Amino acid sequence: MQLSNSNLLQKNLFINDDWIEANDVFDVINPATQSLITQVSNGNETHTLLAIEAASTAFKSWSKQTALYRSNLLKKWFQLILDNADDLAVLLTTEQGKPLAEAKGEVVYGASFIEWFAEECKRMYGETIPTPAGNKRLMTIKQPIGVVAAITPWNFPIAMITRKIAPALASGCTVVLKPAEDTPLCALALAYLAKEAGLPNGVFNVITTTHAAAIGKVLTTHTLIKKVSFTGSTEVRKILMEQSSATLKKLSLELGGNAPCIIFDDANLEVAVKGAIASKYRNAGQTCVCANRILVQKNIYPAFIAAYIQAVQTLQVGNGLKNDTQIGPLINKEAVEKVQHLLADAIQKGASITLGGNIHDAGALFFEPTIITNCNNEMLLSKEEIFGPVSSIFVFDTEADAIEIANNTEYGLAAYFFSNNVHRIYRVAEQLEYGMIGINEGIISHAEAPFGGIKQSGFGKEGSKYGIEEYVTTKYLCLGIHNE
Ligand code: SIN
Repeated sequence: MQLSNSNLLQKNLFINDDWIEANDVFDVINPATQSLITQVSNGNETHTLLAIEAASTAFKSWSKQTALYRSNLLKKWFQLILDNADDLAVLLTTEQGKPLAEAKGEVVYGASFIEWFAEECKRMYGETIPTPAGNKRLMTIKQPIGVVAAITPWNFPIAMITRKIAPALASGCTVVLKPAEDTPLCALALAYLAKEAGLPNGVFNVITTTHAAAIGKVLTTHTLIKKVSFTGSTEVRKILMEQSSATLKKLSLELGGNAPCIIFDDANLEVAVKGAIASKYRNAGQTCVCANRILVQKNIYPAFIAAYIQAVQTLQVGNGLKNDTQIGPLINKEAVEKVQHLLADAIQKGASITLGGNIHDAGALFFEPTIITNCNNEMLLSKEEIFGPVSSIFVFDTEADAIEIANNTEYGLAAYFFSNNVHRIYRVAEQLEYGMIGINEGIISHAEAPFGGIKQSGFGKEGSKYGIEEYVTTKYLCLGIHNE
């Protein structure tokens, strides 16, 4: 891997501003070539305890700094990330697989959370409350919650970190991060740049590890950790939530999705095809907000499917480092097997493969952009996240049918629909049981907007003015006024 700034390739744990080598290491694999990129230190419980103690000590001074002081440091970090964006994109593509253009987009998107919260922390206003008693004055102040544990996924190895770390640090919290074991290098590169920016000792710590369960247990049970922010699967969520309950930690959970993407007969077909593809095939279908079910109104189905097939079959599959690649590899063998299992189940229950359906010639982890039609609610892919480049197409008759099918899931993260009828736009947006709705748009994520789900997709908002609220407590002050 060629980086102009070779310092970005760090291999050790980052604890209390030091690079700590563990006795044990683990392999980081390039999913495109399945070759070894490097080995990194495999952190254990002892390292995690050290990181928590460092973060707790750092909290005492970091939380007392002015918002302006923290903001200025975060802005330096933001700028360093942008200055190193090309290298970070190469690192990201190499360990995660997404095409270079998408990786560069993620670096900028990830950095935008740091800039946004560097500004937002200056506006963490308390309130003065009109008093109900003449001899009392009532007010609130906002204070950082304490040491935060952040547990992040592999599908956005930069942006899912900054979306948690930036509001935490901006508000005055300190952080212990456990990044996904498939993608530790971006996390360590971010730590290197944070150190370069001058973040004080212990404010931000990174434990790379394959011992996810053991480290997760320390992070969710330690009394010094006051908040856990997790992005990942519903199964892991259950364990983390149970473990966090004894010490009553504040939680933010960003879990799976099962996004419907509804194409109504009054949609602009070109906009709908473009939007559905953008949502479905971003990161080879490996996002929690990817269109998981594409619902098409019966009378425009022939026109939509013809245009959709034509567009999907032009998508270029290959190593993300190649210039023209639009679809990179899936993250690992298990991800490919899951896609194959969901397709086999759907076919057995009556679906037809209309395009693709196989492993791509580019290599064992590459999957052909696939379209599967005649889908119904009996199939596993109507209930589970596909997390691969597979469009499952459902057909519906009426607006009421579409809403019923769309809401028929335990998840409630993102939903999309395409319509040019303003009355329908309000009706449908209000009835869809999801935390985020894309209307005539397939890409909806921005630092300025509240990201988060309802139902089994979790709770807590990331990004936006609400994102920082997850890391602060509102303290009430009651001042007695006496005649002295
Ligand atoms: C995710 O897949 O969880 C994140 C996607 C995004 O931020 O747009």
